[in-house]
Amino acid sequence: MSFDAFPVRPDEELKRRVKAHWEKDPCGIRYADSSNADIVAAFTDVDRQLYQQDYMRAAFAGFEQARGKKVLEVGLGVGSDLLSWARAGADVCGVDLTETSVNLIRRRLDAEGLHARVMVGDAENLPFGDAQFDIFYSWGVLHHTPDTEKALRQAWRVLKPGGTLKLMLYHYPSVFAYLVWMLYGPLRGNLASPRRIVFDHVESPGTKSFTEQEVREMLVRTAGDGLAAESIKLRPHLASSDLLTFELSEKYRERKWQIIRSIYPRALVKRLIGDRFGFFMTVEASKPR
Ligand SMILES: C[S@@+](CC[C@H](N)C(=O)[O-])C[C@H]1O[C@@H](n2cnc3c(N)ncnc32)[C@H](O)[C@@H]1O
Repeated sequence: MSFDAFPVRPDEELKRRVKAHWEKDPCGIRYADSSNADIVAAFTDVDRQLYQQDYMRAAFAGFEQARGKKVLEVGLGVGSDLLSWARAGADVCGVDLTETSVNLIRRRLDAEGLHARVMVGDAENLPFGDAQFDIFYSWGVLHHTPDTEKALRQAWRVLKPGGTLKLMLYHYPSVFAYLVWMLYGPLRGNLASPRRIVFDHVESPGTKSFTEQEVREMLVRTAGDGLAAESIKLRPHLASSDLLTFELSEKYRERKWQIIRSIYPRALVKRLIGDRFGFFMTVEASKPR
């Protein structure tokens, strides 16, 4: 696999910057109504908006089928999925790089009388023994950690043989990558590739996006013996970022984004371009027995 589009290496300084980004702006917090003192009501609304925006997420996760299963979720944001696993009766454990996420989620669990183990930790160094979990789930996270392959090796290690790996990773090529590239690339005299522009400008520093082929190769390489590339289910999806239907975070509050959103030919993008150029890629594979 060629990673010439962006540097990929163990990088603790980059990881500190990733952590600082998410400590300050937990994913999904922009939907929260800070004037609402009722944490359950405030975050029920946040969850509703997140699932509406990521319309494919709940069906892909399969919360309802996880009753009684041991689930590890890595990268928690405001905990929408973690609480969904817990409500569905899964024996769920959650790990996030940030204190902000973990503290918020503990408060949410307490407020709903739910139980789950939630802790600060790093996808690249998971604090669990081998073969502990039936499901490893991570939505929109492993492209943010500096050494994605190391995180994948950890995911396979903690899964039981026959266990299921479920990820959402950023996909390339995508409509969103080209939109961001236009804005931060040629229009500013920057000749970097679209992937490099995503790396430098989307969410936390160092955000990667992968082709289907790269993900297949990376999974086969990290799983050890026995994972057939054809058995991996990959599917790109047009996401709210491709369709510009997402709530703009602080980073995108400038007027140009408002204008682009209002004139954006959404129906045409859906009809003519479609999912194969979507920014989200769902990935599902089973650990070889
Ligand atoms: C884009 S948010 C996604 C959160 C959640 N999965 C969601 O979709 O709402 C990325 C999350 O991953 C966490 N994260 C990033 N790198 C991580 C790492 N190496 N280990 C654990 N968590 C990490 C961040 O702190 C942040 O909460």
